[in-house]
Amino acid sequence: MKVFIQTYGCQMNKLDSNLVANSFVQAGFQLENSPDSADIVLINTCSVRQHAEKRVLSLLGYISHQKKSRPEIIVAVFGCMAQRLKSELLSHEAVNIVCGPIQIPQLVNLVNKAIDNTTKQAVFSTDIRDLSQQQTELLDDFETSYDSAEEHLPAQAFVRVMHGCNNFCSYCIVPYVRGPEVSRPPDKIISQIQRLADTGVKQVTLLGQTVNSYCYKGFSFAELLYEVSKIDGIEWIKFVTCYPKKFDEKIFSAMADLPKICRYLHIPAQSGSDKVLKAMNRGYTCDEYLNIIETARQVVPDISIAGDFIVGFGGETEEDFQKSIELIEKARYKNCFIFKYSPRPGTRADDKIPDDIPMEVKKQRNTELLGVQEKISSELNKNFIGKTVKVLIEGTSKKAHLASGEETNHPQLIGRTAGDYIVVFNGPQNLAGQFSDVKITKTSPLTLFGELTAG
Ligand code: 5AD
Ligand code: SF4
Repeated sequence: MKVFIQTYGCQMNKLDSNLVANSFVQAGFQLENSPDSADIVLINTCSVRQHAEKRVLSLLGYISHQKKSRPEIIVAVFGCMAQRLKSELLSHEAVNIVCGPIQIPQLVNLVNKAIDNTTKQAVFSTDIRDLSQQQTELLDDFETSYDSAEEHLPAQAFVRVMHGCNNFCSYCIVPYVRGPEVSRPPDKIISQIQRLADTGVKQVTLLGQTVNSYCYKGFSFAELLYEVSKIDGIEWIKFVTCYPKKFDEKIFSAMADLPKICRYLHIPAQSGSDKVLKAMNRGYTCDEYLNIIETARQVVPDISIAGDFIVGFGGETEEDFQKSIELIEKARYKNCFIFKYSPRPGTRADDKIPDDIPMEVKKQRNTELLGVQEKISSELNKNFIGKTVKVLIEGTSKKAHLASGEETNHPQLIGRTAGDYIVVFNGPQNLAGQFSDVKITKTSPLTLFGELTAG
């Protein structure tokens, strides 16, 4: 039977989808690229903003239509939205199975049952904050049984170092759908990466909602970085995402000491206003945040830093917003992800803080902040002109990077530097998954363009 998987959301979801895809292949299913020709449609969902949930609902609408002529299609909705809406999603006419993110090891069984019997099924955590040791171990086993290199990113793999989150930022749904923070045992992580390296993986990205708070029985994230660095075959180690509170500076020393650790830090600030940060329950001030990134730059001089911001959080005045602009200017991020605040049902902000910033204002602040960042990105990128950078080649370049205004000279390959800069250049496709040196000849705010250098 043919299975189509659609994934929404973050890298954590992409990793889950890979594991699920591999588990279906191992169980004898065949992967399919389109829902139109699939017998089974799996949808991995995101709840972080309403927009992501709307996209799931519109895909379900499309599939409902397909089901009129092919009622036998089996649809399983899994991940964060499945956990948030629980049985409510089952009442959608297109849905056969609802499965929370903790229950994904059961998906193959649920689908097999649905093939034999059309009764709708839902599995999710009744109390997500109350994860059992057994569930955590099952997830660990699932990850180590079905991990692999990324299909679309040759020689790269994502490895989870921790599940869940304990921070309860007031706007965020993640702690309610992914459960409490649980760090995986280091020996399991190390042996998993060793095995991935043996299959040809050269770059691992360690994943967690707040990787810098990784701690397993006193074993810290910095210590983990030293151990992962010892693994033969792994040449680059990246990690996302960091939380700007109680930042263990030994992580920076590890980055400075260990040549395999990429000098890239994704460390969301969310706002430049102390008042808004407090309402967001972030637990730090703007100055404390700036101190962390200043330390990062002192200890790891050429580090590149990326951030996230939310605009239009309830009560964000024009003055607060100006402070976010100031923070972006001071931080000089390599790039920033900027989001319009989207109230999430069940979060503290949704309960206590009115969503009083009109959509028009959110949009305008979003555009303005992007403009400020674009200017900085553009300046930083220009510094690369004439320099040669090492990239890990990901494959052929997609149209997205050739957006209007970006003169491209018909580049064919796309790669990323250790600092996470995107580089586009001409070259043969069979270089995907290889490291290469590229001399930068031209830049745009989002992209560096260059030429392969000999050797
Ligand atoms: N509305 C808008 N953006 C959000 N994020 C998380 N929750 C929300 C929300 N309710 C953003 C944060 C986070 C990123 C993954 O998504 O910036 O860092
Ligand atoms: Fe959400 Fe905050 Fe946890 Fe990040 S740290 S997942 S924003 S609650």
